Amino acid sequence: MSVTLNNKTAFGYSTIPDKQILEMEHIYGASHYRRLEAIIRKTQGAWLYTQDGRRILDCLAAYSAANAGHHHPKIVDALVKALQGGYGSVISNVVYTDVLGLFLKRVAEFVPQLGSRFGHNGNKVLPKNGGVESVETAIKLARYFGYKEKGIPDGKQEIIVYENNFHGRMITVISFSTSPKYKEGFGPLTPGFKVARYGNLEDTEKLINPNTCGILVEPMQGEGGMYQPPKGFLKGLRDLADKHNLMLIFDEIQVGMGRTGKRFCFEHENVVPDAVVLGKAIAGGIIPVSVLVTNTALMDMAFKPGSDGSTFGGYPLACVAGLAALDVFESEHLAERSAATGKILKKKILDITARSPHVKEVRGEGLFIGIEVKNGDAMVFCEKLLGYDMLCNDSHHHTIRISPPLIINDDEVEYIAERLEKVLVE
Ligand SMILES: Cc1ncc(COP(=O)(O)O)c(C=O)c1O
Repeated sequence: MSVTLNNKTAFGYSTIPDKQILEMEHIYGASHYRRLEAIIRKTQGAWLYTQDGRRILDCLAAYSAANAGHHHPKIVDALVKALQGGYGSVISNVVYTDVLGLFLKRVAEFVPQLGSRFGHNGNKVLPKNGGVESVETAIKLARYFGYKEKGIPDGKQEIIVYENNFHGRMITVISFSTSPKYKEGFGPLTPGFKVARYGNLEDTEKLINPNTCGILVEPMQGEGGMYQPPKGFLKGLRDLADKHNLMLIFDEIQVGMGRTGKRFCFEHENVVPDAVVLGKAIAGGIIPVSVLVTNTALMDMAFKPGSDGSTFGGYPLACVAGLAALDVFESEHLAERSAATGKILKKKILDITARSPHVKEVRGEGLFIGIEVKNGDAMVFCEKLLGYDMLCNDSHHHTIRISPPLIINDDEVEYIAERLEKVLVE
């Protein structure tokens, strides 16, 4: 198979025809994703481009990773400068780098004081790469807290999690997934998790016993069907965590960083956790970066040299991307824009869905909007939307997920509404 890379006429990375790209994926790639048939060669802002120049509005934003829009010029510029300036490459973790310190300070101060019952000590940050790595680091934090501070025998610690949770795809987090297809055949699974119904405080309290060390929860569920918990749920969890001395951990990997119209989703209820995990958009959707953030006292209690680590976690290029993305987040008021644009878009969606025979319910906040369809097969509608040059996907089969980059403008909102009208009403 002859391939042409980076020649002058290339649009994007190569000039290899679409048909060959599909063949290569099928022959050489694991089939772990069901893909929609669109081969993207280039991205900019809220748009995806194919070889023949077709442009598709991205209403998925890589599950909230591309919140700032694709190839944000300020983030790209920072990365190019780092690569050309000789400070992008990975450096052994046995020495310091100036960018890591700057990034850690920025993130520690970007998050409100976590775990204030342990003192107003400031926050500390532990950087990783993909989101699931930081979720697992948070699980280590909760377990160590149970062992060291609560005297739970090591190996007996339990963490409460929720039905339809999604925290990634590695063994420990799939072990407590309630989706059989995520874990069938992948045993032995990791013990130490108890599952409560999402939004149900009574269930949660019943599961608490002397071995319980923490609660891990998404403040809104993304993959699980775009559900908001009932009002008061997060506050109730905070009370339970205080009463029983549990580590309250919020997974904000998908719903943080402005997605729901607030910097953090937990701000909708004014509840502050003991630890938070962030990922995806934290580095502008160009470099994979995730972080565990917690109270300084807790971080120092749980992690000592040798007890954790990651070759690329916090490497210079990641920190450069993170610093630039946080600048963009603040200077472009992405959370406020998500709230304002989301309000307009949701109003339009409610108007359309009120006239649709297909829709069961509309949920969400900011630019995190789910449209649950009556036939339970949201992908049928997503495929039709792709035919109208709009990319979105299903959440938990039954819900169309609308989560575009937070930078979308009025014309793009209108574009989405026109297409939803075609697919859901006409
Ligand atoms: C809430 C939540 N947690 C964790 C993850 C895992 O992140 P990653 O795919 O980067 O490992 C995801 C990914 O979608 C997520 O939505």
